[in-house]
Amino acid sequence: MKITNLIENVEINFIEDFANDILIGLSSKVKSIPSKYFYDQKGSQLFQKITSQNEYYLTRKEFEILEKESTNIAMALEEDEIDLIELGAGDGHKSILLINGLINKGKKVNYYPIDISKEALIQLDQNIKPSSQLKIHGVVGEYISALKHLKSISTNRKLVLFLGSNIGNFDRTQNQIFFKKLWKNMNDSDYLLTGFDLKKSPEIMNSAYNDSEGFTADFNINLLTRINKELGGEFKEELFEHYGSYNPILGAMESFLISKITQSVFIKSLNRTFFFEENEPIHLEYSFKFSSTDIQYLAKETGCSVIKDYKDKDNYFTDSLWQIKKETKDEQ
Ligand code: AVJ
Repeated sequence: MKITNLIENVEINFIEDFANDILIGLSSKVKSIPSKYFYDQKGSQLFQKITSQNEYYLTRKEFEILEKESTNIAMALEEDEIDLIELGAGDGHKSILLINGLINKGKKVNYYPIDISKEALIQLDQNIKPSSQLKIHGVVGEYISALKHLKSISTNRKLVLFLGSNIGNFDRTQNQIFFKKLWKNMNDSDYLLTGFDLKKSPEIMNSAYNDSEGFTADFNINLLTRINKELGGEFKEELFEHYGSYNPILGAMESFLISKITQSVFIKSLNRTFFFEENEPIHLEYSFKFSSTDIQYLAKETGCSVIKDYKDKDNYFTDSLWQIKKETKDEQ
């Protein structure tokens, strides 16, 4: 696999941003830590463990959908050659289902997995093998700059993949901004396939984010460990507990760490001590959920039309296929 690297000095920029975001988050009135920092090596391993838990239905359901529907998705696309661009490709075990569906329908696929981590792409490279029908070209970079780059090198019809309910980490303003940015960097009639976790009984969602083996709790606590390791923090992990709960008004799961006692925590590279009251929360993550109406609305607001929602048999999850709409009759 060819790999294009769009970022320099990743490490240096990263540690500055991390320090800055932790300073802002922990000195706010309601403390928070951005969820993008979950995924260091340990965090990514813990996320893998979460996805193999029975309670965490999201990954399994999406896999089911792609297994069942990939040829139908392929048939919904008119082109014989397609640039398949995946935002945050991970290990590629779901992408390969779709790739096979496209190839079985006689389409040529140019697969561009995009990830901020080169390691993720190297891992993926071992799982997906190129062929005469499948070219693979990894891009290390931020999603939007990578899309801009691809727009400049290929004019094929694109299918952008954003799987796994990663969209759920954005709130309902941020997700619109995100899709509008994608829209700007895509062409009329290009396709988008996004994984949305559907709104359902809170009980089911609550257990998905409170698995009985405690991997979700470990995943959250690992953020403190990461601050300790990378920023010289002095968090005592056992003095915080995980709390995850569905907020039906937001339509989102929310994860928190709650301070068990009144305590102060020093973070060396910020040269600062943070004070926690007993039972004070740190907000860590939103995982937004969607109804079919929410999805229709989001597509419309961002200049797209929904071709089809591919759902699992229990209606837990959907991979929603959209098409970019640019020209209106008035403009022609
Ligand atoms: C990877 C963002 C889709 O929100 O469900 C899993 C992360 N957090 N358990 C999600 C997560 C807690 C996951 N996403």
